[in-house]
Amino acid sequence: MLNVIIAGFGFIGRKLVRTFHKKIDLIKNVDSKFKIIGVSDSKGYLYNLNGLDLKRLSSVKRLSEYSEEYREGRSTEEMIEKGEANLMIEVTPTNVDDGEPGLSFMKAALKKGIHVVTSNKGPLVVAFRELTSLAKRNDCFLLYEGTVAGAIPIFSLIKRCLQGDTIRRIMGILNGTTNYILSRMYFEGTSFELALKEARERGLTERDPSYDVDGIDAACKAVILANALMNRNVKFKDVKRTGIRRVTQEAISLAKKSKFAIKLVSVIDKRIEVSPKLVPINHPLCVHSTLNAIHIETDLAREITLIGRGAGEETVSAVLNDVLTVIRETASRSRKI
Ligand SMILES: NC(=O)c1ccc[n+]([C@@H]2O[C@H](COP(=O)([O-])OP(=O)(O)OC[C@H]3O[C@@H](n4cnc5c(N)ncnc54)[C@H](OP(=O)(O)O)[C@@H]3O)[C@@H](O)[C@H]2O)c1
Repeated sequence: MLNVIIAGFGFIGRKLVRTFHKKIDLIKNVDSKFKIIGVSDSKGYLYNLNGLDLKRLSSVKRLSEYSEEYREGRSTEEMIEKGEANLMIEVTPTNVDDGEPGLSFMKAALKKGIHVVTSNKGPLVVAFRELTSLAKRNDCFLLYEGTVAGAIPIFSLIKRCLQGDTIRRIMGILNGTTNYILSRMYFEGTSFELALKEARERGLTERDPSYDVDGIDAACKAVILANALMNRNVKFKDVKRTGIRRVTQEAISLAKKSKFAIKLVSVIDKRIEVSPKLVPINHPLCVHSTLNAIHIETDLAREITLIGRGAGEETVSAVLNDVLTVIRETASRSRKI
């Protein structure tokens, strides 16, 4: 029986609540007592141990519009400390400098034996080993499918379907914004500056576009992939990183003539590197616009490529799948007791 709290009621938090409402029959088939008992934002939280009304919660933009139950001035830590939840979904903003506030929320939850599902990269980039050992010590799930490549189920695929394979290399186009910019330059012949301006106008860039164009976002995702799937213990500083600012229209045209495209590729093998690379146009990794792609090389399956949407509301698919995994696994554990 899952009592769920959600930290963060922004774009993903709201979409998630709407999805829970829409798919409640499917969820209740797996856990008939599933309920959301708390949701927080930066200013306070809503809490009701009997379960919040998903229909009403789906219709509000801000938590304070839900009802007088909204406790302004109260913190997410306080909501966690009540200890009545057994799953926290952590969807506060990513901060790759110190992982906060999500890192503290995740540590507090795991210490109390609360499972964690998140789409927030920051805490995993800063403290992957610490969080995974904390989860293990407290017998908790820590699932983070939504942190890398949005809706593409890379962690689930490798952990569930390739359990006996050794992953030799992962190559990925992990940032949709830079892929959009490079695709505009490739197909429309626009300059980097114009393509970046377009991306900003379409709301595709982070508030600080250097997060995308200097490869910071892609490097964070490479760190999570390396630590989670290739048993590495790397930090952000270990990534050799070059962004796309110096990719010129001339370089792209030249590559195109030889049937290559220039893409911002993350490579994880002995190296861990993010840089613009020439990718043959008929290679499965060569996807365009805002799409993401991940190409894995293993000893047994050899090569597998996944293509999909790397951000946006599709990320909810990954978060919901992680939530359903926790529901199913905890239900099967309690059947064994
Ligand atoms: N958006 C996407 O397409 C996408 C895709 C993949 C992964 N992600 C990741 O998913 C996470 C959520 O993204 P988002 O787009 O939903 O972000 P968002 O729209 O900025 O929402 C963040 C939410 O977190 C709340 N928050 C901030 N500080 C908090 C604190 N100290 N305590 C409690 N709540 C706090 C904010 O509160 P206020 O409402 O009061 O400001 C807001 O409700 C991020 O880590 C992001 O990187 C996002």
